[in-house]
Amino acid sequence: MQTQRLAVDVGDLEEKGSRAAIARAAEILRGGGTVAFPTETVYGLGANALVADAVKKIFAAKERPSWDPLIVHVGDREMLEMVAAEVNQDAYRLMEAFWPGPLTLLLPRSAKVPELVTAGLEKVGVRMPAHPVAQALLRVAGVPVAAPSANRFGRISPTNAFHVAEDLEGRIDAILDGGETTHGVESTIVDVREGECVIYRSGMITLEQLRSVCRGEVVYRTEVEEGESRKAAPAPGMGVRHYAPRARLVLVEGLSPGLDVALIDEVNRLEEAGEVVGVMAPEGFMAALSLMRKKPFDLRGFTMGYDTVHVYHWGPWEKPEGLAQKLYAGLRWLDAAGVTVIVCPLPAPLGIGVAVRDRLMRAGSL
Ligand code: TXA
Ligand code: MG
Repeated sequence: MQTQRLAVDVGDLEEKGSRAAIARAAEILRGGGTVAFPTETVYGLGANALVADAVKKIFAAKERPSWDPLIVHVGDREMLEMVAAEVNQDAYRLMEAFWPGPLTLLLPRSAKVPELVTAGLEKVGVRMPAHPVAQALLRVAGVPVAAPSANRFGRISPTNAFHVAEDLEGRIDAILDGGETTHGVESTIVDVREGECVIYRSGMITLEQLRSVCRGEVVYRTEVEEGESRKAAPAPGMGVRHYAPRARLVLVEGLSPGLDVALIDEVNRLEEAGEVVGVMAPEGFMAALSLMRKKPFDLRGFTMGYDTVHVYHWGPWEKPEGLAQKLYAGLRWLDAAGVTVIVCPLPAPLGIGVAVRDRLMRAGSL
């Protein structure tokens, strides 16, 4: 299958080329095909959520197991009513506060939604994306769009069209290229039950933000509990090794001060063991590394990419939004550089740092 590249200018969706790209992508979706498109979190791989044969193509392209349900994207209230059988008061409050935006709500599934979408579960995950390209696509297509992240199952989520092509070129009908995504980490998944708001996956909407709106308690429930099958897990796709680079991931508790020293100790140890080391480096790390690295820098090799340490400039450590935005691009970049191991500090579990930590822990687990 030939994958079409459709480019949009996010700054000017009314421009002729942008309109044509969105119209073509919408036509493919209406015709039962698959289109990768940008959202404010990561790129999604979309298909018409109401047509089982279209949804099947998503599972095939990603090699995603059928027990892992999909999130349905809606553009307006009418589409919401097509996919959710009912919406309670508490869910409405959250929609009013955070939609359009990176919040997925679990709602009773309407009979119009094929069982394949929810993997047989009673509730369907629904979100209204804030990205202008995603919104335009939904509006023109006129159908709700089921879309998991546009990567091969278990791999790192894509934050630009190039990442999507790396994983899915030749396996999907089109990629709608709208540049880099805004946030870089996936939506928060929430189940609003009577008097309680349960977080199934941490994400861009933080615990603190949910607490400011939910009337009841807000709690995390992200792990599989003992004796529970994976299928019965809160978010079935979260129970396995996920968001993973090819290289082995070595996580370092990121409590600064002393963070650079802890990271460089790992670099020295791993280089001595003969590994090609990648580092997700906070700002200022290079200066420390040049002082404390045991192995001398091969400066020519460093710029030409054959020195054995590869450093990704992740950004200021005290700005978790920036770390979230560049997390997946950094892991993919280090993988492409051919490192055998990636040393990565864990941000503090505060605000959006919770989601970044969560993804790293899952990527690191075997
Ligand atoms: O930001 C996002 O949410 C992105 C963009 C494309 O919207 N989508 C995304 O989809 O991350 P995906 O499929 O990669 O991750 C969705 C997670 C999976 O772990 C899945 O198990 C869980 O959501 N999920 C989906 N529907 C569910 C449901 N009905 N009940 C429980 N968990 C569900
Ligand atoms: Mg995913």
